[in-house]
Amino acid sequence: MTAALVVDSLHLSYHTPNGPVPALRNVSLSISSNEILGLVGESGSGKSTMAQAIMRLVKSDVATIDGHVLVDGQNLYQLSPEELRLTRWKKISMVFQSSMNALNPVLSIQEHFKDTMEAHIPGISRKEIVERTSDLLEQVRLNPAIARNYAHELSGGMRQRVVIALSLALDPHVLIMDEPTTALDVVVQRSILDEIADLQQKRHLAVLFISHDFNLVSGLADRIAVMYAGEIMEITDRGMALEHVQDHHPYTQGLMRAAPRLNGTKVSIEGIPGEPPDMTQLTPGCSFYERCPMRMSMCRTTPLPTKTGSVYVRCHAMPNTETEKVQTSEF
Ligand SMILES: Nc1ncnc2c1ncn2[C@@H]1O[C@H](COP(=O)(O)OP(=O)(O)OP(=O)(O)O)[C@@H](O)[C@H]1O
Ligand SMILES: [Mg+2]
Repeated sequence: MTAALVVDSLHLSYHTPNGPVPALRNVSLSISSNEILGLVGESGSGKSTMAQAIMRLVKSDVATIDGHVLVDGQNLYQLSPEELRLTRWKKISMVFQSSMNALNPVLSIQEHFKDTMEAHIPGISRKEIVERTSDLLEQVRLNPAIARNYAHELSGGMRQRVVIALSLALDPHVLIMDEPTTALDVVVQRSILDEIADLQQKRHLAVLFISHDFNLVSGLADRIAVMYAGEIMEITDRGMALEHVQDHHPYTQGLMRAAPRLNGTKVSIEGIPGEPPDMTQLTPGCSFYERCPMRMSMCRTTPLPTKTGSVYVRCHAMPNTETEKVQTSEF
């Protein structure tokens, strides 16, 4: 399979009054056409930063960025502003976190599609805009008649479907979705997830699907990348994620236990004790050290192994890392 999106050694450090915040630390991943990669992690782990950095939306006065992002083999970080304008939204598109609340209240839904299409498809006719809008709305299972409506006249689920349809307006190959269903009730969430899976299949999209909900992602994604304090700790296959809990990174295991699940008739949820580290005070060892039930003394000081490949675990205590498991557990 061809990689539609390749992220290679991406570093991003926000400039803040308290010093640099390294929100992305040596992040690498790739997504094939026809694949959904889930990205999970707690609040503040760097998921939205990753999405915005991939889209090259973070300005240089806000953060220092280093690394490569290739879309269909083209490095977005080497494009001129005009080349970037033509590539963004057309080849790679994004549904922003909370974007269903960002539709312009004074524009009808049709006008949103018109603005997007006119900005990128020179000479497109009014008739074609209307036809393409109807088609896109139908693809997200909305009645095309709602094109005449304004955002406030639609339910949350309908607005989210509009935003997804807008992200597909220029027929991208890669789609990034940042928490696209978080604000919705579970029934609407379920039906939108089914539609995303359906659209991805029909359009052969490479999708980066971001969520803090491990259960939700494991039901949708082919592979899952687990992010903690700006790093990818693990990439796992969906199949692996649903069983063999003990083979995962201790943080992934914590996320799995923190996701609501049915035990007989009871729903049990266990949180992950402790807090994520202060991003301005990171130490060279594993950033999960303070919260890790499997930690060993070496984890405090020894950097995690760098891994490549479609699935991997970066943990000194896991048997498939190069580091031999040392019996110095502090617990
Ligand atoms: N513009 C900014 N300037 C400085 N720091 C920022 C900025 N945006 C994000 N950060 C910091 O970068 C880190 C990652 O934030 P980010 O929003 O990417 O996390 P997230 O995983 O998307 O969280 P959430 O689940 O809450 O959406 C956090 O420590 C955050 O405070
Ligand atoms: Mg976010």
